[in-house]
Amino acid sequence: MEVVEIAKNIYNVGVNDWNIRDFHGYSTNQGTSYNAFLIVDDKIALLDTVKKEFSDRLIENISQVVDPKTIDYVISNHTEMDHSGGLPRVMHKIGENKPLYCSKMGAKHLARHFHQKWNYRAVGTGDELSLGKRTLTFLETRMIHWPDSMFTYLKEDKILFSSDGFGQHYAGNEMFDDQIGEEIMTHAKKYYANILLLYSPLIKNLLQKVTDLGLEIDVICPDHGIIWRKDPGKIINAYAKWANQETEEKAVVIYDTMWKSTEIMAKAITEGIANENVSVRPIHLRRVHRSEIMTDVLDARAVVIGSPTLNNQLFPTVSDILTYMKGLKPKNKIGAAFGSFGWSGESVQLINKELDAMEFDIIDPGLRIQYVPDKDGKDECFEFGKRIGKAVKGEST
Ligand code: FEO
Repeated sequence: MEVVEIAKNIYNVGVNDWNIRDFHGYSTNQGTSYNAFLIVDDKIALLDTVKKEFSDRLIENISQVVDPKTIDYVISNHTEMDHSGGLPRVMHKIGENKPLYCSKMGAKHLARHFHQKWNYRAVGTGDELSLGKRTLTFLETRMIHWPDSMFTYLKEDKILFSSDGFGQHYAGNEMFDDQIGEEIMTHAKKYYANILLLYSPLIKNLLQKVTDLGLEIDVICPDHGIIWRKDPGKIINAYAKWANQETEEKAVVIYDTMWKSTEIMAKAITEGIANENVSVRPIHLRRVHRSEIMTDVLDARAVVIGSPTLNNQLFPTVSDILTYMKGLKPKNKIGAAFGSFGWSGESVQLINKELDAMEFDIIDPGLRIQYVPDKDGKDECFEFGKRIGKAVKGEST
């Protein structure tokens, strides 16, 4: 990623990580970027750094604009190491005693990551730092995405530096929303579904707080992906929708299979749902990554889970997705379970237990078929799918 001046004397000095494909378990099939921002005013501030292995590139990028030693302040909006990993290299280069601004939690957490006695300046919501002609205002955003997280607002330019918020795991030649268009929303949605969904109540509060504070926002600069300058309202509105966990007339049929019997069931259930003119997608757990699945779950009204019974338990991939999904706390869902079995057949009961723990509305006791579904079995699956489809539309079953 080239150094780009995103507004007068404000630069993105971050890097693209083109080839990362697994970001702590999230499939980053288009890589990601670690954005870091340099503001050159009477004082010079660096906002966030990059992953450790890209530290030298960050220093090179900064050097294209200023001598790194002339940086006066470092702002750490977030401790997670995709943004702080470069701090030791940066602090060593610019001077270990330069002020390092972060939240109170940030000061504690950075110390526990890097074990350095840096010159921490802990700030809270509303605190300001003058750079001369420009002023930075800090806004604590706990749990978006860690307890230490904060946003930094540059009021003269109406730029919000939003750390993980409004980000996307995407590496490209584009730097702005107007250069990429609608395609970026898929990445923003995936990011929300897999990183932020469980914090939806806090995000609703944050959006309200930004409104209450009357912050005018012309540009949003996240630490991942493209910068929102053409239409920052678009991503803010999308966050409002996702934080409300609004659903569409849509179902996902998530399953694994051993001898294709549960897959035959999944196919017939999918056809039954589609017969009700509800959008539906069957998803084989060993073909599609869990982070892609969660993206589909985000706005689905019905989540239908199928598992064979293996050694009296769920199939392992089904346990995996249920554990992952439960942690992300999806809401407003209809749930249903199905599965083929040989002799004991516990899978449906085990799935229902997990759906119940997630407070899904379980609309049917579930469907079990022994061994291979025959025509009657497939018809039963089709009717099961139709009931789900009707429930998605809010019709009585
Ligand atoms: Fe991009 Fe929570 O770090």
